[in-house]
Amino acid sequence: MNTPTKRRLFVTTALPYANGAFHIGHIMEYIQADIWVRLQRMLGHEVHFVGADDAHGAPIMIAAEKARKTPQQFVADIAATRGAYLDGFHIRFDNWHSTDAPENHELAQDIYRALRKAGLIYTREIEQFYDPVKGMFLPDRYIKGHCPKCGAADQYGDACEVCGAVYGPTELKQPYSVLSGATPELRKSEHYFFQLSSPRCADFLRDWTHSANAQGAPHLQPEVLNKVREWFTADEAGHGGLADWDISRDAPYFGIEIPDAPGKYFYVWLDAPIGYLASLKNHFDKGQAARHWHVPSRTGQSFEQFMDDPQVEQIHFIGKDIIYFHTLFWPATLQFSGRKTPTQVNVHGFVTVGGEKMSKSRGTGISPLRYLELNLNPEWLRYYLAAKLSGRVEDVDFTPDDFVARVNSDLIGKYVNIASRAAKFITQYFDGRLGYFGATRELEDSARALANDVAASLDARDYARALREIMAHADRINTAFDAAQPWLLAKDDRRRGELQDASSRALAGFWSISVMLAPILPATASRVARELFGLDRDFLWDDAATLPHHVRPYQHLMQRIDPKQLARLFEPAMAPAPEPASAATHKATSTAVAPPKGQAEPATPTGTVSIDDFARIDLRIVRIVHAEAVEGSTKLLRLALDAGETDAHGQPRLRNVFSGIAAAYKPEDLVGRLTVMVANLAPRKMKFGVSEGMVLAASHDDEKAQPGIYLLDPYPGAQPGMRVR
Ligand code: 2FM
Ligand code: ZN
Repeated sequence: MNTPTKRRLFVTTALPYANGAFHIGHIMEYIQADIWVRLQRMLGHEVHFVGADDAHGAPIMIAAEKARKTPQQFVADIAATRGAYLDGFHIRFDNWHSTDAPENHELAQDIYRALRKAGLIYTREIEQFYDPVKGMFLPDRYIKGHCPKCGAADQYGDACEVCGAVYGPTELKQPYSVLSGATPELRKSEHYFFQLSSPRCADFLRDWTHSANAQGAPHLQPEVLNKVREWFTADEAGHGGLADWDISRDAPYFGIEIPDAPGKYFYVWLDAPIGYLASLKNHFDKGQAARHWHVPSRTGQSFEQFMDDPQVEQIHFIGKDIIYFHTLFWPATLQFSGRKTPTQVNVHGFVTVGGEKMSKSRGTGISPLRYLELNLNPEWLRYYLAAKLSGRVEDVDFTPDDFVARVNSDLIGKYVNIASRAAKFITQYFDGRLGYFGATRELEDSARALANDVAASLDARDYARALREIMAHADRINTAFDAAQPWLLAKDDRRRGELQDASSRALAGFWSISVMLAPILPATASRVARELFGLDRDFLWDDAATLPHHVRPYQHLMQRIDPKQLARLFEPAMAPAPEPASAATHKATSTAVAPPKGQAEPATPTGTVSIDDFARIDLRIVRIVHAEAVEGSTKLLRLALDAGETDAHGQPRLRNVFSGIAAAYKPEDLVGRLTVMVANLAPRKMKFGVSEGMVLAASHDDEKAQPGIYLLDPYPGAQPGMRVR
């Protein structure tokens, strides 16, 4: 193998916000990085692969408050869930830490002091919305109102989801706080800024983003560089270009205090990437002690020494939504605080399911936890994702049929089958001894050439290409084995030599393919190395070009996927709604308590439902954060409901629901109250907009004869998001 000088690698994945479970996007990124890291380790390089929870920020503070926990307890509880996922998918970080750990407080404050010393920090008073009820400044995402351009209701403070307009929160019409429903007030406060627009920063960033790293590879993928270039450029009106970065937030805030600035905290995005360094430092501090006791020769390596080594490569894996932070703020922060800048920022796309962008809040997408609970093999997913990852910033589409086809035809049909067929003959006729007749040089040389190509593809994160090459090789091995007709050779005592040779060559191919698949299928490859070939260690990359000489009886290696098993993964999200009793009923189960004009009344239920039928209805406690009359309707109110949900960015997500309760309630009397919502009702497009649920209310069977609508009102203590059952 090409053995370049030993690389020293510091590898990270984006730090997940500590206010939610891992979703499939996290797992995909970790698998992508884990495969890369495993390759480097197999090649003999030194790798330190770290992650951490991104603990700070207003959303986490608010979520903790809702959960009636301290933020520290809240993030610790989330952290406790991480291991099951990481172990479950064979993702092996060397360390998992938290941005709220002491190392991060210290590093963030040190870095800030260095930036201040470099003259890149200044303060300026800014005017912002303040929630007088909650007693805090409101981040843009916590303010909603009517779009200043098109007038659409319930739009966030930064952009309109209806007409696409981008604006500032103060431009919203009839703004309200998502947290309390209160009308926000404009207040002034002093903020700290990092002068990203300074010529020093701009020059550095222009150079860094465009240049190659010490290894001669670009810092950024070409499509990422294109994006970044747009951000550098101001338009003719002088808009755009690099803007200074507001790095402070006012108390109350869960974060790191800014030195010499009482009541001011670092904005979460300032200390989040510093968490990479904090986790590495924690790893070294822990590792040093361990090495001191167990491996005396490695003592003395500290975090600082490691990071001071110019040869150390700092490699980040991130998603395409956080490019700005990692290619502008982060390198500049490091450069001007006198630290090593990233060697490479590797950006990937999103995971889509059947071509659709997944939505956590609507329950689409794939739940990694459910995947594990269903005992689906984690290596199937690793293989499938690898087969779709090209090293470019493309979305990765998960399609169930494609998943089944790839795994069953490639992994089982092409790969595993080689071993199950060939090992049988060697065990039965040759007592486990492999024997090659004639020259083996070519076998080794071609394996070496292939392993070099595959290593290069994996190193370039073009896993799809690597797997195409590997599977083409598997095809060749199967074809050659079939051509030898081993089942006929086995029947003829005089042709045993040929049988041993053909089976041995097939197994040698299987061996080297197993080496090359090891970064992707670490558990299977480990079993192949140890159980099938009797090694007392896992594979190293160099093993790919060597030949095995013994094989043990074949033990079942991997199951085919039963499509029915996979279908269960999609049950909660994709199950068809229960068949309506009649078309009229279906129509009437719209989104309002009383059906909007022109719709039939809901039928009175008859007969019984099973507990399972009932369990399919997702009833949740919600808080009405906003209520308003609907122009053009006397019956409907438009409600914005907090069901304890967050969007992909960890921001609260409100449900827009039209409810036929205008006759019974004034909008202002409803704000702040709790009630019950059917959360998994299919969204329904109405004349006035899309309704995303239905609130429950009581009324007489004959509403005309005995009018009156009564919203359900949970006992005190119920919290938004709680399940009603
Ligand atoms: O977008 C996110 O999920 C952030 N928590 C990523 C942070 S990456 C790094 F900077 F910490
Ligand atoms: Zn609009």
